[in-house]
Amino acid sequence: MQWTTEQRYTRIEDITEQELTALKQKVDRSPWRQTYHIQPEMGLLNDPNGFSFFNGEYHLFYQWFPLGPVHGIKYWYHTKSKDLVHWENAGIAIRPNDDIDSHGAYSGSGIEHNGQLYLMYTGNTRDENWIRHPKQNIAVMDQHGSIQKRKTPVIDHVPDGYTDHFRDPKVWKENDTFYAIIGAQRTDLTGCVVLYHSPDMETWTFAGEVQTALPEFGYMWECPDYFDINGQGIFIFSPQGIAPDGDHYHNIYQSGYVLGNLNVHTQQLQHGDFHELDRGFDFYAPQTMEAPDGRRILVGWMGLPEMAYPTDDHGWAHCLTIPRELTVENGRLIQRPVRELQNLRGIKMEASALLEDETKTFDSFSGTSFELICTFDLEDADSCGIEIRVNDCEKTIVTYDAAGQKVHVDRSHSGALADTAYGSVRSCRAEGSQITFHLFVDSSSLELFVNDGLDVFTSRIFPSDDCTGIRFFAKGGRAACRAEKWTIG
Ligand code: FRU
Repeated sequence: MQWTTEQRYTRIEDITEQELTALKQKVDRSPWRQTYHIQPEMGLLNDPNGFSFFNGEYHLFYQWFPLGPVHGIKYWYHTKSKDLVHWENAGIAIRPNDDIDSHGAYSGSGIEHNGQLYLMYTGNTRDENWIRHPKQNIAVMDQHGSIQKRKTPVIDHVPDGYTDHFRDPKVWKENDTFYAIIGAQRTDLTGCVVLYHSPDMETWTFAGEVQTALPEFGYMWECPDYFDINGQGIFIFSPQGIAPDGDHYHNIYQSGYVLGNLNVHTQQLQHGDFHELDRGFDFYAPQTMEAPDGRRILVGWMGLPEMAYPTDDHGWAHCLTIPRELTVENGRLIQRPVRELQNLRGIKMEASALLEDETKTFDSFSGTSFELICTFDLEDADSCGIEIRVNDCEKTIVTYDAAGQKVHVDRSHSGALADTAYGSVRSCRAEGSQITFHLFVDSSSLELFVNDGLDVFTSRIFPSDDCTGIRFFAKGGRAACRAEKWTIG
């Protein structure tokens, strides 16, 4: 179905109770509803926003277009959790119903200040000629969860030298000053980020553009984030317009990081190479927060803009990733599933076998929502791996090709296909005679952590309901395999 502009800008407040119920019922009948991932009740979810810990709870908001699986007028939807893994829907947080956000409450971040949670976000507005005028706005959530918007923007115009692609403020506090980095596009149509500072979250001053060694790296940088882990600065952003290069950059848009410390006084960022955060098919616009115990936690959008997905026909699209803990080890960012995910573990199974050029199933290893940790010790096998969500004709394959020194995730036979224009295999380098795969599988997703968080592949898959099989294989020789599996849900 083609959505007209008018339909995309229809607000949830303007439809009837019956229409709303019909939309929800359609989604309730959908296959592929997730069981432990944050997903919209209906409509389209995109970026995680305002991820924070406030008043004893984690708060995670997301971009939401309620009325269908398209990018229409965006709301902030609020979810909260005591443990990062059991989330409760808390309703709409920010409605795009003022002059300062008339065409969408776009992405932003949250920070505690004066005993309240300050949410800084981009108000997308358009004039009568459909020209965009982005505003940076503040909404404040009190201890009772009530959210009030400031009626005037805190940054009401784009500084000279930048286009109207100017959005996604990420706020942090250093000493007594608040800083915000904002994703931007220069007037020569290259991407960058700019820095603002504020003494009080109300008055913001433009400091300048962040100076990087990536002056021409795509045409727009969305959803920037900056933080440090034990003194090591990390700058995350989502550049648009990067061409594929070997096994890299095969999705429509990328999300990645550089390691480097930002000097907030000179706006200089001395940094290393750009690395993709995720090697899978569906990952974009991540956001991080600091947990009360100091851990740096990341959540991403398990989806990408401008792509068709099989759930579109059922009135909804996308979900968020599981939370991951970030650490820096030997100059590399490592991402591990947060330990709280163990709270979801149900029945445990264990099995091991020496596989000899064969594909094997283990008793009671099956399911559609589970966690699986599997280590292979290769003797003389050329490759080994796991097939999940298997039936007679569908499967999703994770392979370690030891001879070719690569890990592959193949969703070409996973069932209904997401947009195939961007290919159906993703790969990254790996080496050695041992490999560990840690999988989180849900009704329509696979998150694969390779070698204890060295690489992650995040992907939606859309298998048939009866795809419950799990198989282990070795090819061209022998590989010993040990597996532990827990049901989830
Ligand atoms: C990234 C993004 C952001 C914007 C939001 C709108 O996916 O385009 O730059 O704020 O989505 O929903």
